[in-house]
Amino acid sequence: MEIIHLSAECYPVAKAGGLGDVVGALPKYQCKAGHIAKVVMPMYRTKFLYDNEWTVDFKGNTNLGNWFFDYTVIKEKTNKLGFDLYLIDINGLLDRHKIYGYDDDSERFTAFQIAFVNWLTHWEHRPDIIHCHDYHTGLIPFMMQYCYDYNNLRQIPTVLTIHNAQYQGWMGWDKSKYIPRWDLWKRGMLDWNDTINPLASAIKCAAKVTTVSWSYMQELRHHSNGLEKLFEYEQGKCVGILNGIDNEVWDPETDRYIQHHYGVKNADKGKAQNKALLCERFGLDPEKPLFIFIGRMVGEKAADILPAAIRRAIDQTGGQASFLVLGSGETQVEWEFQQMVVPYAGVYQAVIGYDEALSHQMYAGADFLLMPSRVEPCGLNQMYSLRYGTVPIVRSTGGLQDTVVDMGDPDGFGIRFNHASVEDLVYSMNRAMELYRDKTHLQWMRKYMMEIDHSWEATVDEYIHVYKSLI
Ligand code: ADP
Ligand code: GLC
Repeated sequence: MEIIHLSAECYPVAKAGGLGDVVGALPKYQCKAGHIAKVVMPMYRTKFLYDNEWTVDFKGNTNLGNWFFDYTVIKEKTNKLGFDLYLIDINGLLDRHKIYGYDDDSERFTAFQIAFVNWLTHWEHRPDIIHCHDYHTGLIPFMMQYCYDYNNLRQIPTVLTIHNAQYQGWMGWDKSKYIPRWDLWKRGMLDWNDTINPLASAIKCAAKVTTVSWSYMQELRHHSNGLEKLFEYEQGKCVGILNGIDNEVWDPETDRYIQHHYGVKNADKGKAQNKALLCERFGLDPEKPLFIFIGRMVGEKAADILPAAIRRAIDQTGGQASFLVLGSGETQVEWEFQQMVVPYAGVYQAVIGYDEALSHQMYAGADFLLMPSRVEPCGLNQMYSLRYGTVPIVRSTGGLQDTVVDMGDPDGFGIRFNHASVEDLVYSMNRAMELYRDKTHLQWMRKYMMEIDHSWEATVDEYIHVYKSLI
C-alpha cells in the first residue's frame, strides 16, 4: 500500500510538539511493516535542511488567488528517516526559520496544500491513501473532491488524523479566493459558523477521521472548541487510535542525548546517575525528589497553574522537593516561571525555550513528570516518561487517562487527579513525595512502567486497517 502523509511537522526535520514526533515515526513503522509510506511537508529553513543532501524531484507552478508562484519539490537523498521525505519549497512563503506564528500562516499553508495537490496531478500513478494531519493540511480533502482542476484525484481516499482540535485554522470567507476553481454548491463543505474552517472541512470531506486516543475521541463530542455537533454527526467515520512512540529514538539504553544509559535491570542506578548530572547543572539537590514539566506553556497544558502549585509545594514542605521546567509559550506564563528562579534558587530552575537534548536528559534524570493538562488529545511526554522510568502525574483527560493507571488501583503505576487546580496538583505532589520515601514501591513501579509497550510496532496495524476499509 502506498500512503502519503501530509504534515506541517516531522521530527527531526521540524518539530514544535507531538505532531512532529508522530509524523517522524508512524511512516517509518509503516515502511517496516512492508508498506510504502512517504511524507510531504513545507520546506522551512531548519538545520536538517542544511545538514542533508537533496535532489530536485519536481518543479511546477500554480496560483494562490491572483498570485502566481513557482514551487519546487525536493527529496532527501538517502532515505535517512526510513521513508521518502519530500519538502515543498515556495520561495519567500515557506522557507522561514519557524514553523508557525507568522501573520500570513493561512496563505502559507494554503499555498503549500495547493502546490501539493497540483504536484499530485502530475504523478504517473495514484497513491492508495492521502493521509492529512491536523488543520494545516485540512483543505486537501476538499480540494481533491471539489476543485475542477483536480478531478482526476477524486478517487483517492483521504484520511484525516486530528492531533489537536483546539486549532482549526479559521479563515474569513474573503480568503475563499485562494481555493482553486471549485464547485460553489459545495460551500457548506468548507464552512463552519460563517468562516472557512479547514479542520471542519477535512472532517466533512475525508473518508475517515482518526484521533490520537480513545478517550479524546469521546471527549470531542462534548468539548471540541465549537465542533461538538459536527463530531456528533460524523461519529460513524471517526475512530480513536492511540499514538505509539518511536522506541528507537526514545530508548534509555541507547539515547544519544543522555550520558548514562540504562535498562530495566539497572534503572535505579542509571536514573540516579542521570539525575546527579542534571542536578549539578541546575544547582539542585539530587537527594530530593525531582519533579519536571516539559512542554508548551499554554492554557491547554494548564501551565498557568504550575508556578503557584510549585511555590506552594516548596513552601509547605520547607523545600523538600526540586523542580525543573522546560518550555515556552504565553509571555505571562513564561514570565511567572522566570520570576521564581532567584527566590527559589537551589530547589527550582526554569529553562525557557526549546531544547531537544535537555528534554531527553530530563525524562532520564527526573523522578516525576507533571502533566496537569486541561486538554490532552494523546500526550507523548507521559509515554516517554514511562519508558524512562519516571512516574507521570497527570490529570485524567484524553490520552493521559488512556495511558496512566493511578497507583491506588491494582497494578497502578502513576498518579492521576481530576481538576486542573493548584489544590489537586499539590495534593498529587504530596502523594508522589510519599512514594519517593517508599523506595521498594518506587523501584517496582519504575520497572513495571519501563516494560509497558507503547511502540508503534504494536499500533501500526490499526492504521492499515483503516486504510484497507477504504480501498
Ligand atoms: P503537544 O504536541 O501537545 O505539545 P505532546 O505530549 O504530544 O504534546 O508532545 C510534546 C513533544 O514535544 C514531546 O516530544 C516533548 O518532549 C516535546 N517538547 C515540548 N516542549 C519542548 C521543549 N521546550 N523542549 C524540548 N522538547 C519539547
Ligand atoms: C497534539 C496533542 C498531543 C498529541 C500530539 C501527537 O499536539 O496536543 O496531545 O500527543 O498532538 O498526536
